Amino acid sequence: MPERPFAIRPARDEDRVPLASLFAAVAEERDGIAAEPPVDVVRRAAAFELDATLVATARDDVVGGIWIDGPFFGFGELGMLVARGWRGRGVGSALVEAAIEWGRGCGLHKLSLSVFPHNRAAIALYRKHGFEVEGRRRRHIRRASGELWDLIEMGLLLGDE
Ligand SMILES: CC(C)(COP(=O)(O)OP(=O)(O)OC[C@H]1O[C@@H](n2cnc3c(N)ncnc32)[C@H](O)[C@@H]1OP(=O)(O)O)[C@@H](O)C(=O)NCCC(=O)NCCS
Repeated sequence: MPERPFAIRPARDEDRVPLASLFAAVAEERDGIAAEPPVDVVRRAAAFELDATLVATARDDVVGGIWIDGPFFGFGELGMLVARGWRGRGVGSALVEAAIEWGRGCGLHKLSLSVFPHNRAAIALYRKHGFEVEGRRRRHIRRASGELWDLIEMGLLLGDE
């Protein structure tokens, strides 16, 4: 199998600003993640819990990231993104696999996440890794445009329970 052109590793302090800048760029798309511009990059950079954040790097650039908020009563809540130019090349899959492994290693019993119903790429990615749709929050997120968007809730049990 050819070697992957990217690597997955735990986030380090020096990844904070690149990851927050990537977050701001994806927020500009106003499509996949709930955040919309303007993103306060310094504040976002400071907010990453490095212990629960993984990054994808190519050469020395951060091209993706996944973070697990919590634990909340034993479950972790995922957030993730991949740089536009790197999508469709396996980065998202590698990040989700690493987050599942990380969650198991931490003894979490479950991972959960929220995704917009129109985000077909993300929903297919999560399904591919075993996440199931558990529900739908209606008109849940107010967009800058004033529109109210639904959210799909997905979850993956990590143990045998
Ligand atoms: C969703 C996202 C993380 C996917 O990352 P990615 O690196 O492009 O995903 P991968 O290349 O690893 O693809 C993995 C799987 O996802 C699905 N997928 C990815 N892109 C897809 C697309 N455009 N359409 C349909 N399915 C898609 C496929 O099932 C794919 O598996 P396959 O290659 O065996 O068909 C990426 O599109 C992204 O960052 N989007 C913007 C931010 C975002 O939406 N974050 C998630 C918020 S819930």
